[in-house]
Amino acid sequence: MNEPPEQKSYFQNWVSVTGGIFSVFLFAVLLFLFILDFWSKRGNPYLGVVTYLVLPVFLIASLLVIPLGAWNERTKRRKRGYVRRFPHIDFNNPAHQKLAFGTIGVCTLFLLFTMYGTYRAYEFTESVTFCGELCHQVMEPEHTAYQHSPHARVSCVECHIGPGADWFVRSKFSGTYQIYSVLFKKFHRPIETPIKNLRPAQETCEQCHWPRQFFGAVEQDRQYFLSDEANTQWQTKMLMLVGGGMPPYGEKEGIHWHMNIDNQVYYIATDEKRQEIPWVKVVSSSGKEEVYVSEGSDFSATELPQGEMRRMDCMDCHNRPSHIFKSPQEAVNEALSFGAMDPSLPYLKREAVKALAEEYESHEQASAGIREHLEGFYLENYPDVWSSRKADVEKSIQTAIDIYKTNFFPQMKISWNVYPDNIGHFIFPGCFRCHDGRHRTEDGKFVRTDCNTCHVIIAQGDPSLVETNVDGLEFKHPEPQIGEAWKETACYDCHTGA
Ligand code: HEC
Ligand code: HEC
Ligand code: HEC
Ligand code: HEC
Ligand code: HEC
Ligand code: HEC
Repeated sequence: MNEPPEQKSYFQNWVSVTGGIFSVFLFAVLLFLFILDFWSKRGNPYLGVVTYLVLPVFLIASLLVIPLGAWNERTKRRKRGYVRRFPHIDFNNPAHQKLAFGTIGVCTLFLLFTMYGTYRAYEFTESVTFCGELCHQVMEPEHTAYQHSPHARVSCVECHIGPGADWFVRSKFSGTYQIYSVLFKKFHRPIETPIKNLRPAQETCEQCHWPRQFFGAVEQDRQYFLSDEANTQWQTKMLMLVGGGMPPYGEKEGIHWHMNIDNQVYYIATDEKRQEIPWVKVVSSSGKEEVYVSEGSDFSATELPQGEMRRMDCMDCHNRPSHIFKSPQEAVNEALSFGAMDPSLPYLKREAVKALAEEYESHEQASAGIREHLEGFYLENYPDVWSSRKADVEKSIQTAIDIYKTNFFPQMKISWNVYPDNIGHFIFPGCFRCHDGRHRTEDGKFVRTDCNTCHVIIAQGDPSLVETNVDGLEFKHPEPQIGEAWKETACYDCHTGA
């Protein structure tokens, strides 16, 4: 029993033992998180910060405590000249037995709770609350727009992060960087697009929307109001020829032609936002290649522009499936057609659009500014309307303020004109980036521009007396003064959304 002090291990001291216990706990939690993270269907970048950065630091620290304790013990023993011993546990002693089993029980319970807590924390970092609300200022615009989108029930990680070892590692890096950039305010306002590490569409969109199952046409009914005193209403009903992806479900043609199994479309954009596309290549399933080059550019089938060659996928058209920031024109047209704004108030369309398109620095300032603009307008120009129809004016003002709050985010410098929407051709080039009448092959075949290539108009005009024709009508511009200008000038050259 009376061994000399040196012969007893230096590790027998409370500091080292505590370090050891912590190391075991941390290792267990780490292992648990690692397995969870690795086998979960979609990796989680933010949890990765905890799993691969924070916990290991603690684990290393608690491992270091073990030799540190031993070193400390050695110095003390030298000074003291004797070994301070641990309490003696005797499993034959019923009191010791109880104490020992009790301790083991409590420890196990503690470990289980820790793991449960960790699991809940893990679930939380996958939630929309975490992505959209925790980092409130930065994500507020996307989170708000998302809640008003067709994908409001699809969680952020479903589109932004996906399964597979490759994405697992990549999302770890970008998640860590994102946390750093938010903490140190290094993020860009507005957040820059296109997002470089967005998951490929095959792994996100196509999990829910199976391209083979596209077929036929989708009807779109749009209501517009002109900027005149009467807010004259105009309706356009169109069949969007989305087309099909596989014969029994529909001909392999139409808008989703770019995406169906038979065709691969490649393009090179010369700008960051992918708005200038001078070079396009189509490869059909038979291997036939066709290169379309923008006339007047220096490129040809063999002389490619500098830049990344992208294979066209869902995101090249549907780049705003979930974060839709509406233009003042679009939002006010909608509000007028749903009755949230009253179309019988003179010049409401024009004035509401004007009020929304002003520059404001915050939502509060915008609320005051919009109110001032509209109240001022009616007070000055239509005092009788102002005095007799206060409630209608007030409702429209309130709607305009709500439109601002859901579509404009001055603190992140976000509004409709920051992120070009590539569907359509009304206020952004969209489809006309290629279907512009200038892209052609060497033997003179143009990318189609005929208005009926993508949609047929089946009804247009004053909603009470619209002409309807399922075979398709020639487009009539709602503002007759424009004449035939729309045939020569692209819509987005005149229409800016405000
Ligand atoms: C239906 C799929 C989908 C869902 C769900 C989704 N996003 Fe996105 N998100 C996208 C796409 C596609 C882009 C890329 C736009 C681009 O690159 O032009 C994007 C872009 C972004 C951007 C960059 C800025 C911008 O507006 O383009 C942020 C930030 C963002 N998403 C956050 C979120 C958050 C937070 C959620 C959950 C509340 C979420 N996203 C849910 C598809 C989605
Ligand atoms: C988790 C499933 C899911 C994923 C992933 C998903 N969507 Fe959807 N999407 C839906 C559902 C459900 C609807 C129908 C919503 C409705 O009818 O209101 C929808 C609707 C749409 C619509 C029609 C919108 C409209 O205005 O009616 C488009 C276009 C679309 N999604 C494109 C995409 C694109 C592009 C992606 C990939 C970035 C994507 N979706 C990812 C489930 C999903
Ligand atoms: C060439 C551009 C383009 C590409 C590429 C594209 N879409 Fe579309 N898609 C459209 C247009 C245009 C519509 C018509 C509706 C509209 O204007 O919003 C549409 C409609 C849809 C709809 C709603 C109508 C329906 O048939 O249910 C869904 C869902 C959709 N697309 C998903 C996808 C997915 C998923 C992909 C990738 C596999 C994809 N799209 C690729 C342009 C495109
Ligand atoms: C990157 C260039 C590019 C963009 C962007 C693009 N297209 Fe195309 N599209 C092509 C090419 C190339 C063809 C093949 C030439 C042709 O048939 O005119 C084509 C063909 C088509 C066709 C005919 C398919 C068939 O049945 O043969 C439709 C419809 C179409 N595009 C619709 C759209 C719509 C709608 C958009 C915008 C949402 C769009 N495209 C955007 C390059 C593009
Ligand atoms: C390459 C395909 C393509 C061609 C060619 C095309 N359009 Fe469109 N157009 C679209 C798509 C896609 C949309 C719908 C976008 C959306 O869902 O918001 C659209 C939307 C529209 C709208 C509704 C605008 C809005 O957003 O409110 C009108 C009107 C229209 N087109 C007229 C025309 C006319 C006129 C022509 C001929 C000069 C034409 N389009 C040629 C693809 C095309
Ligand atoms: C030369 C300029 C010019 C061109 C090109 C042009 N428009 Fe217009 N458009 C106007 C003007 C001006 C108005 C009247 C605006 C108002 O009263 O608010 C208008 C009004 C409209 C409206 C109704 C108002 C609203 O809510 O937006 C629609 C829809 C429209 N244009 C569609 C188109 C389409 C589609 C094209 C392309 C095929 C096109 N325009 C090309 C100048 C133009």
